[in-house]
Amino acid sequence: MSKIDETTEQTWKNQVFPEWGTWLNEEIDNTIVPKNKFMMWWLVNMGLWIKSDAQTNIAIDLWCGTGKTTHKLKEMSARHQWARLTGGRIIQPNLRSQPNVFNPFKIKKLDAFLVTHFHHDHIDLNAAAAVLKNTSAQTPFIGPKYVVQQWIDWGVPANRCITVKPGDTVKVKDITIQVTDSFDRSVLITDPDTKELPPDDVVPEMDERAVNFVINTSAGTIYDAADSHYCSYFAKHGQDFKIDVATVAYGENPIGVQDKMTSVDVLRTAEALQTKVIIPLHWDIWSNMLADPQEIEILWDLRKKRFNYQFYPFLWLPGGSFTYPDDRTKIEYYHDRGFADRYTYPVNLPYKSFL
Ligand SMILES: [Fe+2]
Ligand SMILES: [Fe+2]
Repeated sequence: MSKIDETTEQTWKNQVFPEWGTWLNEEIDNTIVPKNKFMMWWLVNMGLWIKSDAQTNIAIDLWCGTGKTTHKLKEMSARHQWARLTGGRIIQPNLRSQPNVFNPFKIKKLDAFLVTHFHHDHIDLNAAAAVLKNTSAQTPFIGPKYVVQQWIDWGVPANRCITVKPGDTVKVKDITIQVTDSFDRSVLITDPDTKELPPDDVVPEMDERAVNFVINTSAGTIYDAADSHYCSYFAKHGQDFKIDVATVAYGENPIGVQDKMTSVDVLRTAEALQTKVIIPLHWDIWSNMLADPQEIEILWDLRKKRFNYQFYPFLWLPGGSFTYPDDRTKIEYYHDRGFADRYTYPVNLPYKSFL
C-alpha cells in the first residue's frame, strides 16, 4: 500500500487533532510549582487550569468543542437566547478560532473539576467523560444546580457531583473554593437541556444557573468571573474577598448583542474587585466576537494615573502559562521563543557571514 493509499480523512484527524497533542498536558504534569506561588494555564475560551504550590490541580470550564461547522442549519429557534435578545433568527457565524491546546483524555491528575454555568462553551460532554474516566473517585465535579443536572443526565454518577450556590465553600486539599454570585445575564435567557423551561416573562433564579468562583491558594486568590457581564456589585465582591488575580469574559459584541465585557468594562471590573491583576479571556474563541486585548492595555495606560490604578492587565495567549506573583507586572505574555541553547555546538555553515 502506498503512502497515499494509507492516508484517509480519519488518519488525518488522528495525526493532526488535537493540534497541540499532549504538549501542554506534559508541561502541566511536569511543572513543580515553587513554594509561595501558584500557576495557571489558559486552555482557550474560559478554560483555566490552576496548580498550587502543594501541586493541587483544579480545572475550570474545560471545554473542547466547536462552534458552527456547517451552513446547513440556517435559523436558530425562537427560544434561542440570541433570538430572544435580538429578535433575529439567522444563526450567528461563531466559528472556533483557536486550536485544541489540551487533550482532556490525557489528564493524569486532577483534584477538582469546576464548571461555572451550563452554556455549551463552558460545560462539555467530552471534557466530562474524560475527567470521569481519568481521575480518581475522589475528584469532585462542582457546579451550580443546572450544571450538575446536565452532568447527571450525561451519566456522571450523582455521588461525584457537588451542587453549589453563592455562599458555599468547598475545600480541595490546600485550596479553598468560595462560591459567589454570577452576573451572567445571558444565561438567564438561555434554556438548559432539561425539562423545566420557565415562562418567557419570568426571570429565572441566577444562583441555580451560574456562579463565580473564588479560588484561595496559600500564594494568592483567583476570582473567576466566568461569563459575568459588567455589574456594579463587583465592588461588593471586592470588599468581600481579597483578590490577587481576576479572570473575566472580554469580547467584541456584535451590533444588537450585549454579552461580553468591553475593554472599559474589564478595567472597571478590575477597579471594583480591587484585584492586583486582571486577565481578559474569552476574546480568543469566536470568529464573530474576536477582540483585541491591546485595546485594554492602551486604555489602562490612558487612565491609570487619573484613576490611580493599582492593578495591571495581563494580556495572555491560549496555551500560555501565568505564575503568581512573578507575572504580576508582566502585562504581555508571549510563548517560549526557543533556541536557549544557541552556540552550544559549533555552527555548521560554509562561512560566518551567512549569519
Ligand atoms: Fe462563554
Ligand atoms: Fe456563558
